[in-house]
Amino acid sequence: MSDSVPIIAQKAPYPVELEAGKTYFWCACGRSQNQPFCDGSHKATGLSPVRFTAEADRKAFLCGCKQSARSPFCDGSHKSL
Ligand code: FES
Ligand code: FES
Repeated sequence: MSDSVPIIAQKAPYPVELEAGKTYFWCACGRSQNQPFCDGSHKATGLSPVRFTAEADRKAFLCGCKQSARSPFCDGSHKSL
């Protein structure tokens, strides 16, 4: 059913500053109003956010198109959308 398909939040990654040791929930469904992070909007979709912990303070590019094979990180897949 179409509700269970990720939607494209944007066809580009979101640059974010990650903090070492902090846990994040990347929005996999594309429906969050707080991109690129989950805000609970996936509830009806059957999709779940991707939980990850930053290993260091660093800038990262989190996938906005929700098609990356390396989620939560952008792998360039948005370029072919
Ligand atoms: Fe998209 Fe939670 S709002 S995974
Ligand atoms: Fe999704 Fe780049 S934004 S792969």
